[in-house]
Amino acid sequence: MQAPSKSGAPNVAMQAAGFKALKVETADFEVWLARLDVGKTRLHHLAGLLAPDEIQRAARLRSADDRRRFTVARGMLRQLLGIYLEKAPAAIEFSYGSRGKPRIKRTTPVHFNMAHSGERAAYVISKDRPVGIDIECLHRDIEFERIARRFFAPAEFDALQKVPSTRRRRAFFALWTGKEAVIKATGRGLSQSLARFEIAVDGHPRIMRAKSKRIAQTILHAPEPGAGYMVTVAAMPAGNSKRLSRRPKIVR
Ligand SMILES: CC(C)(COP(=O)(O)OP(=O)(O)OC[C@H]1O[C@@H](n2cnc3c(N)ncnc32)[C@H](O)[C@@H]1OP(=O)(O)O)[C@@H](O)C(=O)NCCC(=O)NCCS
Repeated sequence: MQAPSKSGAPNVAMQAAGFKALKVETADFEVWLARLDVGKTRLHHLAGLLAPDEIQRAARLRSADDRRRFTVARGMLRQLLGIYLEKAPAAIEFSYGSRGKPRIKRTTPVHFNMAHSGERAAYVISKDRPVGIDIECLHRDIEFERIARRFFAPAEFDALQKVPSTRRRRAFFALWTGKEAVIKATGRGLSQSLARFEIAVDGHPRIMRAKSKRIAQTILHAPEPGAGYMVTVAAMPAGNSKRLSRRPKIVR
C-alpha cells in the first residue's frame, strides 16, 4: 500500500485535515497522529460529520472535555477514512464487533483502528491486515509496577524488574501499548487475558510467545509520536477473512 503521504494530493488533504504521518518502515500499514484540542469552528465541523448513534454516545459522556475528545477523534476518523476511500466522511457507516471494534459496514475495504490518550488520537490503516493501535501518555500518574504484576505474564513482569529504574516506566508503557494493540487487533479487547502472550521488554517490539498462532505471527511496530507519548501498532497476518476477498480501493 502506498502511503498517501508519499503521493502528493492525498497528503495535502491529510495535512489540511490535521493529521501527522508517523514514520513506519513497512508497507503493511500507515499510522497517523492527530490533536484533539481543536478550536470551536473545527469542533463544530467535525461534530457535523457524526452519525446519530455517535452524537448520542458523545452526549452520554459526563465532561465537556470528554465529549469534545470523542467528537473530534470520531470526526477525524471519518475524515481519514474518507480520504483513503474517496468517500464523503459523513456517508461512512460503521458496524461493531461483539466486543465493540468498529469496522466499515458492508464493504470492509480497509482495516483500521484508533486510540486516544489525553489530547492525542492515533490511527492505523491497513489494506489487508487486521490492525490494532494504542497510544498512552508517558506521564500518566499510575502505579505501573502494580499493574504489570497483575496483568502481565510472569516472564514479562520479571523482565521489567530487571530494566534499570530510570528506563522502567518507558519499558512498562512499551509493553502496555504493545499488549493493548494486540488485543485490539484481534478485536476481543480486554475479554482476553493479557498474560496469554508475551512481548519483548527490550529491543524492537515483538511477540516472544503466544498460545494463539495468529498472535504469534503478529508484527509490532512502535513509531515515534513525539515527546510524552508512546504508540504501538499490532498487525495480524493477512487473509483468513472472506470479507476481504474484495480488494480494497486505496487512494494512490
Ligand atoms: C478495546 C479496549 C481495549 C479499548 O481500550 P481503551 O484504552 O479504553 O481505549 P483506546 O483509546 O485504546 O481505544 C478506544 C477505541 O478503540 C476502538 N475499539 C473499541 N472496542 C474495540 C475492540 N474490542 N477492539 C479494537 N478496537 C476497539 C474504538 O474505536 C475506540 O474508540 P471510540 O469508541 O472512542 O471511537 C477496551 O475498551 C476493551 O477491552 N473493550 C472491550 C469491552 C468488552 O469486552 N465489552 C463487552 C462486555 S461483555
